[in-house]
Amino acid sequence: MDRLIITGGNRLDGDIRISGSKNSSLPILAATLLADGPVTVGNLPHLQDVTTLIELLGRMGVHVTIDDRMNVEVNVSTIEEFHAPYELVKTMRASILVLGPLLAHFGRAEVSLPGGCAIGTRPVDLHLRGLEAMGAEVEVANGYVYASVPGGRLKGTRLVLDTVTVTGTENLMMAAALAEGTTIIENAAREPEVVDLADCLNKMGGHVQGAGTDTITIEGVVSLSGTVHNVIPDRIETGTYLVAAAATSGRIRVKDTAPHLLDAVLQKLQEAGAKLTLDETTIELDMEGRRPKAISLKTAPYPAMPTDMQAQFTAMNAVAEGTGTITETVFENRFMHVQEMNRMGADIQLQANTAICRGVDHLTAAPVMATDLRASASLVLAGLVAEGDTIVDRIYHIDRGYECIEEKLQLLGASIRRVPA
Ligand code: EPZ
Repeated sequence: MDRLIITGGNRLDGDIRISGSKNSSLPILAATLLADGPVTVGNLPHLQDVTTLIELLGRMGVHVTIDDRMNVEVNVSTIEEFHAPYELVKTMRASILVLGPLLAHFGRAEVSLPGGCAIGTRPVDLHLRGLEAMGAEVEVANGYVYASVPGGRLKGTRLVLDTVTVTGTENLMMAAALAEGTTIIENAAREPEVVDLADCLNKMGGHVQGAGTDTITIEGVVSLSGTVHNVIPDRIETGTYLVAAAATSGRIRVKDTAPHLLDAVLQKLQEAGAKLTLDETTIELDMEGRRPKAISLKTAPYPAMPTDMQAQFTAMNAVAEGTGTITETVFENRFMHVQEMNRMGADIQLQANTAICRGVDHLTAAPVMATDLRASASLVLAGLVAEGDTIVDRIYHIDRGYECIEEKLQLLGASIRRVPA
């Protein structure tokens, strides 16, 4: 497995371009299964997770063509099977997103249950219960979900989700798009990626209203047509590089992004002492050489602080001026990066779901191991502010969610290189 070696001490300074959103790309690629005509998806990031989903579609017999700009055209008219195998689903839990579309369009699906993962058990009970409420017959056996629609077509209904679930909202919204009648999803996720999916479904001829609020109403239609859709920029990639620049007391200009999707993140960066200049698609952050001030945050569903930004802010707090508390409320085990940072000289105490970070002047390089996508990124950030060479192992996690991370950081002046294990 490849590793990243980071020689810390450089202030980041430069411009980078943000890639398309991973967490928009995955549901939208799954949504192509709903269409009777070809769907072209653009601005896709070159990420392992996107490749995995494209491979999954191909395995089902769906015709996928990719052009040199990574625009992907999906034509499901050639679909032969409705099976998502464990060997693929275990590498990318978001494969569960094919369940709703397969049921809605073809009336049947066999999808491996995504296992738990490092950050939590991550059940999909709300996805399954919602589909059952819409008339699907769902059986879970030997690690697979076997689902069918005895009535021939899913039926719209009112769903009240116990927990705010992003992919649960997305799966049920896609299923409802072709159901008979109206579906109302209460306590829906409000994430921008849910809105992007709704926009794509409406371009396909769907009738989705209220995406971005906690109540989404979907009028089912008989069929959905092909379309062309470019995914929104990746707000978490954006936040990751902004926090990296703040942690190194540097300056960065992030282009082709969507500042209006990052209110909670930008507010915390301002509290940390960053000077921000925004326009429609660009964010400039300048620490003016100052050390970041410690911030306190609590993760929660959008529009609050994304859980996917928690590890990155923990890395910044590790070297910030003062003490900050970081509370994780979404996942039950998302502090595994903390012990790795403490091995680098950080002073972070864990109390239940809160990390109390007392900022130190600098960290000291160490060999560290990543456990999930965002924890990996936070260890790279820690390496940027550590004396010596930090070796981050198991970086396949990073390749799942960050396109060309070492090239982008090199563009910003970081001393980072990838070495094959
Ligand atoms: C999505 O995961 C994202 N992934 C995650 O990003 C993100 O961390 C998460 O939302 C929260 O924002 C994609 O969009 C592909 P949830 P998802 O269902 O949908 C519980 C990254 O780093 N829950 O919103 O799987 C669950 O256990 C990834 O890019 C149930 O109990 O998360 C969790 O505590 C990591 N039953 C909470 O809801 C269910 O049926 C939120 O999970 C579903 C979820």
